[in-house]
Amino acid sequence: MVRLGATKCLLTTPKETLRKQVLTVSVRPQPAGWDRLQSSAMSEIIDLDTHDADLVERLTRITFEAFKENAPDWIPTIDLARNQVIAAGRRGRLGRVLMQQDQAIGWIGVIKGQNVWEIHPIAVAIEHQYSGVGHLLVEDIARVAKEAGALTLFAGTSDEVGTTNLFGVDLYSNPVDALKTLEAVERNPFKFWENVGFTVVGLMPDAEGLGKPGIHLARRL
Ligand SMILES: CC(C)(COP(=O)(O)OP(=O)(O)OC[C@H]1O[C@@H](n2cnc3c(N)ncnc32)[C@H](O)[C@@H]1OP(=O)(O)O)[C@@H](O)C(=O)NCCC(=O)NCCS
Repeated sequence: MVRLGATKCLLTTPKETLRKQVLTVSVRPQPAGWDRLQSSAMSEIIDLDTHDADLVERLTRITFEAFKENAPDWIPTIDLARNQVIAAGRRGRLGRVLMQQDQAIGWIGVIKGQNVWEIHPIAVAIEHQYSGVGHLLVEDIARVAKEAGALTLFAGTSDEVGTTNLFGVDLYSNPVDALKTLEAVERNPFKFWENVGFTVVGLMPDAEGLGKPGIHLARRL
């Protein structure tokens, strides 16, 4: 996954104390599975506590398995997946976890900036994908970021495995025109981001290796 100079824009404000939030966020449009998740009294989104070893292990497994298909180069080992989860507990970051019947089924991490908050990463348990969990997590973090005064959510994805028409293309020759032609030839997460209100705003040539571009997306809050 591509990072947007994240270390430059870490906030130094104290970490907010976000209380447990029952799923009552408003969204457009409603994702599949929304009603089921909304109506489940046993569903909630909570802050990620990286001192909770069981939770960290569960999210590590979810993250490792979820990225195996799309971004095998980004998290090739379970230890690197664990590092991603633990990093969400650092200063200037926040993790939010969707719990269903006391079981974590997906999580989202964010790196806080002054105007731009970067989503890094998002992962949903494979057996719960395509049922609205990712959409709910994005709407939750959008609400938190907006309440904190951010203007923009940023998300970076990539094409490591040939799921877009820009895989293997030399983007330096004409990046602006290339951006206009971007399309998925197989399932790529940039479609997910578009479906939850993001716009493709840039490309990073060779972000994940020669001919493996990064795809940058943003959403106004
Ligand atoms: C990408 C991911 C977070 C989406 O979460 P999810 O719970 O499966 O997504 P939702 O059910 O909320 O889907 C919302 C919309 O995006 C679409 N979508 C979801 N994942 C998609 C993907 N990988 N490619 C294309 N479209 C996708 C859904 O079809 C849905 O569209 P619809 O409302 O028109 O039907 C999840 O599939 C995942 O963990 N993937 C592996 C890790 C990953 O790729 N993370 C993102 C890296 S940038």
